[in-house]
Amino acid sequence: MKAVILYATKSGAAKECAQLLAEKLCCPLYDLAQDTPDLAQFDTVVLGTGVRMGQVYQPAKKYMQQHLAQLLQKKTALFFCGAYPQTLPQTIEKNIPPQLQQSAVCQIAAGGKPPFTNPPQQDWLNTQNIDQLVTALGAASA
Ligand SMILES: Cc1cc2nc3c(=O)[nH]c(=O)nc-3n(C[C@H](O)[C@H](O)[C@H](O)COP(=O)(O)O)c2cc1C
Repeated sequence: MKAVILYATKSGAAKECAQLLAEKLCCPLYDLAQDTPDLAQFDTVVLGTGVRMGQVYQPAKKYMQQHLAQLLQKKTALFFCGAYPQTLPQTIEKNIPPQLQQSAVCQIAAGGKPPFTNPPQQDWLNTQNIDQLVTALGAASA
């Protein structure tokens, strides 16, 4: 599996999740607000974004729109950082192109920092769901 992680963050949670996933998957990571890789090098794309006011962040939204055809040819997994995981289904419905919703091997709530806080510990992180994403990618490559 040649994987890459792409993320968009404002308060750092999606970056921390991306770093954890990059360690677990031994792969590079890119902040979509700064840089994007040539996707041709990769067969697996993990895309993650923070969520505010029910919206995913603009760099992630724009990337999905502009690279949808390419993303649909890859194995994809999506993670979302938000403080209200119970609202994730509506966020996905509103923000993720339907074909990508269908083709992604998993879409997880990775946990999020409570609004306007910066907890020193990562106890906001949903490690169980992160592990589920890693497993789903492994299972899909079998
Ligand atoms: C103004 C504001 C609005 C937010 N709206 C939502 C929301 O609609 N849904 C949600 O799950 N979390 C919401 N949150 C919590 C953030 O998603 C959470 O802080 C997460 O860590 C954001 O990801 P990031 O740290 O990568 O930017 C909101 C936070 C702020 C400050």
